[in-house]
Amino acid sequence: MNSKSSFRIDPMTKTLPIIDTVSALRQQVNAWRTQGHTIALVPTMGGLHEGHLSLVDLALQHSDRVIVSIFVNPTQFAANEDFSTYPRDIKTDAKLLQQRGAHLIYKPLSSEMYGAHETTRVIVGKIAQGLCGTSRPHFFEGVATVVCKLLCQASPDVAVFGEKDYQQLLVIRTMVRDLSIPTKIIGGKLIREADGLAMSSRNQYLTKSQRSKAPLLYKALQQVVDIVEKGHSVSQSIKAAKSQLTNQGFVVDYLELRDADTLDLVNKDTRPDARLRIFAAASLGKTRLIDNLAVSNLEP
Ligand code: PAF
Repeated sequence: MNSKSSFRIDPMTKTLPIIDTVSALRQQVNAWRTQGHTIALVPTMGGLHEGHLSLVDLALQHSDRVIVSIFVNPTQFAANEDFSTYPRDIKTDAKLLQQRGAHLIYKPLSSEMYGAHETTRVIVGKIAQGLCGTSRPHFFEGVATVVCKLLCQASPDVAVFGEKDYQQLLVIRTMVRDLSIPTKIIGGKLIREADGLAMSSRNQYLTKSQRSKAPLLYKALQQVVDIVEKGHSVSQSIKAAKSQLTNQGFVVDYLELRDADTLDLVNKDTRPDARLRIFAAASLGKTRLIDNLAVSNLEP
């Protein structure tokens, strides 16, 4: 590494270098580019788990240097959401990233992301409506804005996002296409716990009894997919799955079958060759869980 650059092991975590300003990030990215390296960015909000680390693995397959950003982005949280309690543990995150082979943590100061006079927001449009866009109307504007900033700051060749947040992945792909951002967006597979629960930083909010019920969300999706693939009614199976979840204490936000590319609801006009996906969001107590699953061979 260039000894004159800001690329130094972080003295607090003693793991990876941690950079907190745009100028230091650009200096390092320029140094790597001069050395002929390609660069990947894995944007995260920290609270890292195996799902995030699998994205680092994917990033390492696509580039020579992997930057992981950790920033709990205030603009994607509504006032009543968990911004202040969102897991923040840089020592553990840095250790996990070092073990996994990431090269640099970008943990920007809030002032680097949202300066005193900033007013710009990125609104992506139709793909950000429906599903999480309905119940969290602020969310995708905040995500698109911060991801746009991160891509402009790091100018990576590739950026990796998980399919657990499937709508988010499509929102980001759409933004990158529409704004001609020269970064290739790569989607990483959703990673599950052994009992099927989709990994999420928010799973640590669950009480013991909520944690034991949480995999039922995935089971409900599997059940709908099974029934529907056997040719039975989509709406009946969704209705049954919703009421089972409600009986188990979930508050269901949505459970919907949609076109996996456009996110349009599936109906009689859906193309027969459309790829379909079932999406769910439901809360257990204060914890909101989301999940999704691909459907094959379906006659809508
Ligand atoms: O998926 C997340 O963790 C966040 O929404 C992201 C993409 C890092 C933007 O803050």
